[in-house]
Amino acid sequence: MAAMSELKKMRRVALAVALMVASGSAWAQAREASVTVHADKPGPKVQREIFGQFAEHLGTGIYGGLWVGKNSRIPNSEGFRKDVIAALRAIKVPLIRWPGGCFADEYHWREGIGNKRPVKVNTHWGGVTEPNTVGTHEFMNFTEMVGAEAYVSGNVGNGTPQEMADWVEYMTSPTNSTLANERRANGRKEPWKLPYFGLGNELWGCGGNMSPQYAADVTKRYSTFVKVPQGTTTLKIASGASDSNYEWTEVMMRETGRTIDGIGVHYYTLPDDWKSKGPATGFDEAAWARTLSKTLKMDEYVTKHSAVMDKYDPAKRVSLAVDEWGTWYDPTPGSNPGFLQQQNTLRDALVAAINLNIFTRHADRVKMANIAQMINVLQAMILTDGDKMVVTPTYQVFGMYVPWQDATQLPVDLTSNWYNKDEWTMQALNASAVRGTDGAVHVSLSNLDPDKPLTVTLNLAGATGTTLTGQVLTADRIDAHNRIGEPLAVAPRDIAPVAVAGGKAVLTLPPKSVTVVALK
Ligand code: AHR
Repeated sequence: MAAMSELKKMRRVALAVALMVASGSAWAQAREASVTVHADKPGPKVQREIFGQFAEHLGTGIYGGLWVGKNSRIPNSEGFRKDVIAALRAIKVPLIRWPGGCFADEYHWREGIGNKRPVKVNTHWGGVTEPNTVGTHEFMNFTEMVGAEAYVSGNVGNGTPQEMADWVEYMTSPTNSTLANERRANGRKEPWKLPYFGLGNELWGCGGNMSPQYAADVTKRYSTFVKVPQGTTTLKIASGASDSNYEWTEVMMRETGRTIDGIGVHYYTLPDDWKSKGPATGFDEAAWARTLSKTLKMDEYVTKHSAVMDKYDPAKRVSLAVDEWGTWYDPTPGSNPGFLQQQNTLRDALVAAINLNIFTRHADRVKMANIAQMINVLQAMILTDGDKMVVTPTYQVFGMYVPWQDATQLPVDLTSNWYNKDEWTMQALNASAVRGTDGAVHVSLSNLDPDKPLTVTLNLAGATGTTLTGQVLTADRIDAHNRIGEPLAVAPRDIAPVAVAGGKAVLTLPPKSVTVVALK
């Protein structure tokens, strides 16, 4: 049945394209752009960690979305949903940040180990009970099931340096210390790998409302006691600024730059404002344009935070970790507003592609990013409903960008017609390029214009190959989305191969689309 309706849909798309060509209408108005990919001038490595995820104890992000318990009728591995694990493995999720967010600065790790786990109130998110069923062992085992690295955020807000030091020892020590043996008694013989450890979250806000100077002092103090066994490395990530708070980055870098390995920055894309953010579906073209225009601000924020970091760390040893990013809309009507549930549309796919392009272009400084959040919360990869799940347009983009993981950035120059709506104006084309670990050149081309196609002349300087193959993600409506009953309304489709002659190719991108191509 699903295959039949898929076939029908493809026929409808083909028919619509044929009609446009025949009438000469929309295609005649095609906008134009030109892109040069400098395959002969390779840039830095695009670390796979920029495709990182974030899983907070928030709404159904953990309970229901990931964890259903070992006795659930929903197929599970050690309590974690098998369908979700398989979907996350398919897009090669490289890194997962846990347990928060705001939740991290009130989290006491001892409450999440062993047989006696207190039931607490999740004060940040909906005031619901937190059973502590998913704790250190469960989360770390889950990351291993997914094949991802762990980015654990410590409690700087209302925890102590001793509590933090004990947690790190508990997770990483191979010795016969009391804490290491407690871990063994709880079922884990070998220490876990702990590649990243966060020194609190949003210390300027829910992490303790600290001034930058105070936060810097506290960060130095806590970071002193994060010690891992000889021969292992844990990169320490300091709590970063929000949006354009460059003073925060300035003070933190000046005061802690020599003791940390990374500093965060958080930026959420809201179509409107924090009071009324705007709906996730049923929005108009003006909201589309505002959202894309606002998400493009990420480039300015990353550029300016990086410039501050360059003053204190010209060798770029310390990375900028965009450890929370994504869209934030009004909650799904009827849902608990504290659960931050929202639908995910084609607009989110464009937001994802734009941000991944920005991180790729800033690969010299941005070594990690964590979209907020992985399951059922904000700009999610996956939405679940009972025993059902559906992958979102954002997930599809992450899948299309797998060749970007650990690839080499290739500089891109572009000129493009502009897309304007009301006072919002932006280049219609958004792009990035890499040489993948497979040796091939991969280019991502997004058309931000929701109405008009974009004809792109692609110059592939210094690259060899005769054909471009790839996929396109688009749909008939700007708010098209996947639902349990219609799981593939927004799904990538193969494009017809495009010939490359004399290092040049011409492609026409449909309106509101993300295309990735590989040169073969
Ligand atoms: O992702 C939701 C929340 O947004 C996080 O808990 C917090 O860090 C941020 O303000």
